[in-house]
Amino acid sequence: MTSQIQIKDKHFNLFLSEKEILDAIRQTAIKMEQDLKELQPLFICVLNGAFMFASDLLKLFDFPCEITFIRLKSYEGTQTDGRVKEVQGLIEKIENRHVVILEDIIDTGHTVARLKAYILSQQPASFRVASLLFKPGALLNDIQPDYAAIHIPNDFIVGYGLDYDGLGRNLRNIYKIKN
Ligand code: IMP
Ligand code: MG
Repeated sequence: MTSQIQIKDKHFNLFLSEKEILDAIRQTAIKMEQDLKELQPLFICVLNGAFMFASDLLKLFDFPCEITFIRLKSYEGTQTDGRVKEVQGLIEKIENRHVVILEDIIDTGHTVARLKAYILSQQPASFRVASLLFKPGALLNDIQPDYAAIHIPNDFIVGYGLDYDGLGRNLRNIYKIKN
C-alpha cells in the first residue's frame, strides 16, 4: 500500500486504510439501522466529498430508503473561508420526511449548520447528520453529528472522497498532510 503521496505542492502520509474506513462505516451502519429502519429515511448525500461514504454506507442497508444529492462548496485549497456556497439545490419535498444528511467530514461545521437551517425551515419529521469523519477540534458551530464514524485531529486530509484542490477524491485510503 502506498504510504506517501504527493498532490501538487503538498506531501501526504497514509492515515486511514480502506479497511479501517470500511470497518468504521460498518459499525456506524449498525447504529443507524436500529434508528432508521422503520422511518423510510431520505438520505441527502452532500457532494462532492461524501460520494464514496454514501455509496459504501447505503449498500449496507436493506430497509426502505430514498437517496438524493445536494452540492455545496466551502473550501478553496486547504482553508475554509467560512462562506458556504450552495451550488445545486434540493428538488425533493422534505416536509414530514425523516432526513439524514450524509457528509464526508465535519470541520468548522459551517456546511452542516447552513444545511440544517435550510432543512429545518422545510419542516421535516426529523433531522439527523451522519459524517464519515469529524474534527471536534475545528468545530465553530453549535452542531453535533448524530453519527460520526471516525474522530480525527485537526489536520488536513485527502482521499476517499476528500480532495486537495480538486485532486485525490478517488484514493481508496485517507492521507494526512505532512507539515
Ligand atoms: P465545514 O463546513 O468547515 O465543516 O467543512 C465541510 C467541508 O469542507 C467538507 O464537507 C469537506 O468538503 C471540506 N473539508 C473539511 N476538512 C477537510 C479536509 O481535511 N480535507 C479536505 N476537505 C475538507
Ligand atoms: Mg464536502
